[in-house]
Amino acid sequence: MALEDLKALEREYVMGTYARNPVEFVRGEGCRLWDDEGNEYLDFLGGISVVQIGHAHPTWVEAVSEQAGRLAHAGNLFYTGPAMRLAERLSKLSLGGKVFFTNSGAEAIECAIKLARKRKQGGGVVVLEGAFHGRTYGALSATPQEAKQAPFAPLVPGFVSVPRDDPEALAGAVDGETAAVIIEPIQGESGIHPISEEVLRAAREACDRHGALLVFDEIQCGMGRTGKMWAWQHVQVEPDVMTVAKGLGGGLPIGACISSPDHADVLEPGDHGSTFAGGPVIAAAANAVLDVVDDAELLVEVTDNGETLAEGLRELGLEGVRGRGLMLAFEIPEAPDVARRLLLEQRLVVNATGPTTIRLLPPLTVAGDEIQDALGRLGDVA
Ligand SMILES: Cc1ncc(COP(=O)(O)O)c(C=O)c1O
Repeated sequence: MALEDLKALEREYVMGTYARNPVEFVRGEGCRLWDDEGNEYLDFLGGISVVQIGHAHPTWVEAVSEQAGRLAHAGNLFYTGPAMRLAERLSKLSLGGKVFFTNSGAEAIECAIKLARKRKQGGGVVVLEGAFHGRTYGALSATPQEAKQAPFAPLVPGFVSVPRDDPEALAGAVDGETAAVIIEPIQGESGIHPISEEVLRAAREACDRHGALLVFDEIQCGMGRTGKMWAWQHVQVEPDVMTVAKGLGGGLPIGACISSPDHADVLEPGDHGSTFAGGPVIAAAANAVLDVVDDAELLVEVTDNGETLAEGLRELGLEGVRGRGLMLAFEIPEAPDVARRLLLEQRLVVNATGPTTIRLLPPLTVAGDEIQDALGRLGDVA
């Protein structure tokens, strides 16, 4: 079907929540995408930190196909192997407690909020300005952005926000009534803003002092994206609960809320649930992603390639280069227009998070020559 026909279908039948680019992708392999006319693109967005091990990675394709051919769904009233194995791996790789599976990032945040509120009933939740935690009501209430929240008021009560770079303001906002502090260690949607070690430590101390849960949202910055499995491992400030999604499934929808051992049994039978979550196909996909990403050599490459990319951006004279590993951004006037030109003229897929910010989130398996190729394409436009 031609692109014009797809646009017509969208206009008539799809709620207009997305501003789509005028490209139809039909195939992907590694860091490459192809449109319906056979044009090849270099993917430096990875579906916004989802395509963690590249498109159609053989390990992933084999795991998903094999599981889909055997059993796609049985439901959470029964056991299936992939989910239990995945829970063990995620727990051992992170906080050592228990896992609740979800279908998305927002739902993983919902689980974290429910866990924190069940533990301290009626308790408040402190979040940082600029945060993005999702679009469902709890997650939206934790996303202090006027434009996203205002049309949907009233939101869930009890959420307060503080500046993202002020450890004292954060400490001052936490008290005995606080159920949780929720932080993205590197804010993604607001334009790749690493939260300082000072702020993360202040949050940890305030939570310890007042018996609140520290929740890290690693939905965008986790799963090896920054060169360590989790972004918090760069500063060794360990949360009580963390949320993962996006790259976990490598292209299929799965999220997880992971607790430390101390909080592993707060949620009990009947407290929470989800029909599809942790199904065998998506869990097999996530296990395949971990087979590739949980590899010290790959994580070193993420660090090295990230440094090469960041350095290359600086050499192009781009301003405000920031981020960690393969989670980078830079400043440029009229960023949405630049992103569009990169897509349509250079066939480089990136994304503008705001009027002056371009974000880069290539698959972690990106090769050195693909980094140079992307820099060449960026240099032609920027
Ligand atoms: C840090 C963070 N948290 C939560 C979410 C929400 O995830 P989802 O869109 O899967 O609900 C996102 C999505 O961009 C995110 O980047």
